[in-house]
Amino acid sequence: MNNIAIVVHGGAGAWELGSKRIRVGRAACDAAALAGHAVLKAGGSALDAVETAVHILEDCPALDAGRGSYLNKLGQVEMDALIMDGRTLNLGAVASIQRVRYPISLARRVMTDTEHTFLVGPGADAFADQIGFPRCTIEELIVSSDDDYEDAPGPLGDTVGAVAMDAEGNLASATSTGGTRNKMPGRVGDSPLVGSGGYADNWTAAVGATGQGESIMKVVLSKRVCDLVSDGLSAQAACEAAIRLLEERVGGECGLIAIDSQGNVGIARNTRAMPYAFVVGMDGKLKNGQ
Ligand code: GLY
Repeated sequence: MNNIAIVVHGGAGAWELGSKRIRVGRAACDAAALAGHAVLKAGGSALDAVETAVHILEDCPALDAGRGSYLNKLGQVEMDALIMDGRTLNLGAVASIQRVRYPISLARRVMTDTEHTFLVGPGADAFADQIGFPRCTIEELIVSSDDDYEDAPGPLGDTVGAVAMDAEGNLASATSTGGTRNKMPGRVGDSPLVGSGGYADNWTAAVGATGQGESIMKVVLSKRVCDLVSDGLSAQAACEAAIRLLEERVGGECGLIAIDSQGNVGIARNTRAMPYAFVVGMDGKLKNGQ
């Protein structure tokens, strides 16, 4: 039996340290890591653990995914998500979807219920309706400015994500986002792009990325972490090396979380902050930071 592990993040970005938003975001990360860990401890799969954890992050109004997603230039919510199974390399992704409270679960249904891997815009919305996936109003996704969750606008996307290893040694990754604040309608970042916003392969690692999507996708950041692990680096060293590469090659800013096939955890960023939480081991204690 393998050692279980889960790592979650609430987005690398221009957080005001000490703000209400980061306090609420950190609490959501703690709750998400504990909920995902409970799934793993009960014998659940890494896929179930990351989906459960991301639901909690998507529900948090202080985080840029699901409820609380940033708005585009037209004041609309357009969300992206990706889930990947490290055992089979199966994946499901959605982009530019609207009126869905839990985009990560729709991405999973793309993986399990279609012969495709990635559905976007009206096609993804039509698929949601076809399978009777729960829809919501846009009002349920938008957080009122009275709620005081806005930091000073920064250039970065935030995003949420989770990676996990279950007791059978299977890895999974899940990423969900509302994208960047005030983005062009139709803009899609790194998050739903396999290898950029996330990747999971039992042979190497499960990885989740967050930050500046336009930069992250140029270097296919999450897959790079897996390749560095394949070259012999630990999860932590691989995350740090991938961020150095992003900086040097395209001047990007991001955060990364990872679990390698040995169950080692990696967490790194070159942004002001990235709330995160993790639990390693059956009786492991919650650890967190920002
Ligand atoms: N990393 C999230 C985005 O750029 O959309």
